[in-house]
Amino acid sequence: MKVRVFAGADDVADAAVREVAAAIRLNPSLVLGLPTGRTPLRLYDRLVAWEHAGRVSFSRVTTFNLDEFVGINGRDAGSYRAYMERHLFGRLRRRPFRVNFLDGGAADLDAELLRYDRALQRAGGIELQILGLGANGHVGFNEPGPALDTRSHRVRLHTKTREANADLFDGDARRVPREALTVGMSAIMCARRALMLATGRDKAPAVAAMVNGQLTTHLPASFLQLHRDAAALVDR
Ligand code: GLP
Repeated sequence: MKVRVFAGADDVADAAVREVAAAIRLNPSLVLGLPTGRTPLRLYDRLVAWEHAGRVSFSRVTTFNLDEFVGINGRDAGSYRAYMERHLFGRLRRRPFRVNFLDGGAADLDAELLRYDRALQRAGGIELQILGLGANGHVGFNEPGPALDTRSHRVRLHTKTREANADLFDGDARRVPREALTVGMSAIMCARRALMLATGRDKAPAVAAMVNGQLTTHLPASFLQLHRDAAALVDR
């Protein structure tokens, strides 16, 4: 795994927006995997600015988001779908060609997970996967534990993960759903390229373990060490 260290979070986002825009220029029909959380907000602001300035266009891009909460639908302000509308899709002059989300409000969640994996497969897999890092080393919502799921699956969220997502629910961690749907490690590991963004002091232990630690299901991001083309963009 390559590691690029920048002075601050803005520099990380500057590098990331260049990477994403270059990938789209190379292939306007890029299949792009996207994360949520606080870390990619700076990237999304830049992508919107670049799109408005005509420096990048999503009009042929297909996106797949990594994860979604269970029990709420995409219209709920706390959902990741609503987050993506607020921070990226809803601000673009021209929306991406196709956006894909897991639907945590689906009546049959098993069918929903299968549907998502099939859609990923039909799209030919992710070409560029942007990732964020949980302070506990999770990627998407692949939480640390004795095993990892390869496919999209339903997951019980750790208390710390729910606390980290409280912002989406007016700061109230008790309102954060207890379960989520996430793509599995295989979609992430099979992405042609993975770009992990991690900034801030609280991520430092997870970054160190991801890059230099043992490969372990107790730190899912450590598997990126095996990825054929993964880079971590981090701040000092
Ligand atoms: C969340 C999301 C992840 C995200 C991570 C880091 O729970 N499910 O996809 O990458 O945690 O979030 P943040 O960037 O806010 O630290």
